Amino acid sequence: MMIIDALLDKASTRPAAVIGAGTLGRRIALMLAAKNGQVLLFDTNPAVLDAGLAYARETLPSVVAAISDGQGGRIEAAVSLEAALENAWLVIEALPEKLDLKTAMFGKFSREAPADAILATNSSSYPSRLMVSEVADRTRVLNTHFMMPPEQRAVELMSCGETGEGLIDGLALYFKSLGLSPYVAQKESIGFIENRIWAAIKRESLCVAAEGVATPEVIDRIYCETQGTRMGPFHAMDRVGLDIVLQIEEHYAQAYPNLPEAPRLLLRKMIAEIASV
Ligand SMILES: NC(=O)c1ccc[n+]([C@@H]2O[C@H](COP(=O)([O-])OP(=O)(O)OC[C@H]3O[C@@H](n4cnc5c(N)ncnc54)[C@H](O)[C@@H]3O)[C@@H](O)[C@H]2O)c1
Repeated sequence: MMIIDALLDKASTRPAAVIGAGTLGRRIALMLAAKNGQVLLFDTNPAVLDAGLAYARETLPSVVAAISDGQGGRIEAAVSLEAALENAWLVIEALPEKLDLKTAMFGKFSREAPADAILATNSSSYPSRLMVSEVADRTRVLNTHFMMPPEQRAVELMSCGETGEGLIDGLALYFKSLGLSPYVAQKESIGFIENRIWAAIKRESLCVAAEGVATPEVIDRIYCETQGTRMGPFHAMDRVGLDIVLQIEEHYAQAYPNLPEAPRLLLRKMIAEIASV
């Protein structure tokens, strides 16, 4: 049997588990339900779990209507992590970006989910290779980086280094059938594909401003006009939060030591200015 057939078979009879119901978890749950999928959503914070469930259920009809052969599945709250994992065919974690937490949770997934369950992380910055120290069978582990569905449907897939042959391509086909737009990173990469390109745009915009070549307003205006986008780099950085942008850039600087320091210096200055107002 082809891997995609085996995945479709499992997806039609067993639930997918999404662990963490915050910004991304609820959106991943929503997408996994778009073709009659059963999804169990779990979060240790009951208020977030309720809000995540409400969002996914309310949004599902519009997602189903936008894909071919869409059919709304069932999205339920799991009463416990164990209940979410019990019969899962696919487990995706969307937990806070803390490596220790993700590593411990992957250990639990490995021990408590069925032996054939696929184990995936939505981490934006950590390769799944760093999370598998407690996982016995690493052929079922990978990164699945959903960006912001249903608005942004790109999802990047990346091996943990030991992911089973065919699994990434099979899962990519499955995601495509859900109306997602899968991209496979061919090598391990801190920041996958898109995040690294976007990081370079942010970094160079900060350099241009730090050198006094143009103000952030002018940089955003020229960027939008020439690239045909509605939001410039500084506007986008403001939306994410400059402290988060700085954390991301510091992480890149650890991974890629030759990056210029000027963007981090300017970000720290801008954060201090905002804090002093
Ligand atoms: N926010 C984004 O724009 C974005 C985009 C792409 C990827 N990501 C990645 O997705 C992941 C989740 O990010 P987010 O923005 O959704 O985070 P978030 O903070 O909105 O949600 C995380 C959730 O995990 C829950 N949680 C914490 N510990 C838990 C535990 N032990 N068991 C169950 N639930 C627990 C929290 O209550 C919270 O609701 C991160 O790895 C992040 O890098 C985020």
